[in-house]
Amino acid sequence: MARYSLPDLPYDYDALEPHIDEQTMRLHHDKHHQGYVDGANAALDALESARDSGDYGTVKKLSRDLAFNASGHLLHSVFWPNMAPESETGEPGRRLASQLEDDFGGVEKFKDHFSAAAKGVEGSGWGILAWEPEGEQLLVLQAEKHQNLTAQGVTPILVLDVWEHAYYLNYQNNRGQYVDNWWNVVNWNDVSERLRKARG
Ligand SMILES: [Fe+2]
Repeated sequence: MARYSLPDLPYDYDALEPHIDEQTMRLHHDKHHQGYVDGANAALDALESARDSGDYGTVKKLSRDLAFNASGHLLHSVFWPNMAPESETGEPGRRLASQLEDDFGGVEKFKDHFSAAAKGVEGSGWGILAWEPEGEQLLVLQAEKHQNLTAQGVTPILVLDVWEHAYYLNYQNNRGQYVDNWWNVVNWNDVSERLRKARG
């Protein structure tokens, strides 16, 4: 059975400065993301033991642990390459721009909607732009923690971590400024490629 591992950052820890500081990136990637990887693997190990013993007394807790930690790992694994140094972020590709026009009325309206959703997450969570294959459309969603409030079956293509661990050292309680500044490091090339893959 497969286990998870921590992916490397696709850039240096200080590459997103001044918008996201080096110390935040080190702690966020090396400690927080690693914690979700370890937590997901521990849940998988414990579920394997449960199958071996036939004792499913903790299956509710372990299922919850798996959902939380695997979602945390998978979202962070999209989050890192969703960003790039400010000089390498590019522009939304033609298909992405067209889809944003169809589904949100344009790039700027999408950004306003996404920012409002991210700023409005209650407690710890994420702003998420996801491809929804049934309606063949993009959705802006919120996630609380990592796993709550999502729509099932969608593919995240742009995600913004609004847990305090993502911004508190540099922005303290000012999540709004963090969200506004984050747009400077959105890697549109990566988002465009993720949409292309998700659409198939
Ligand atoms: Fe995070």
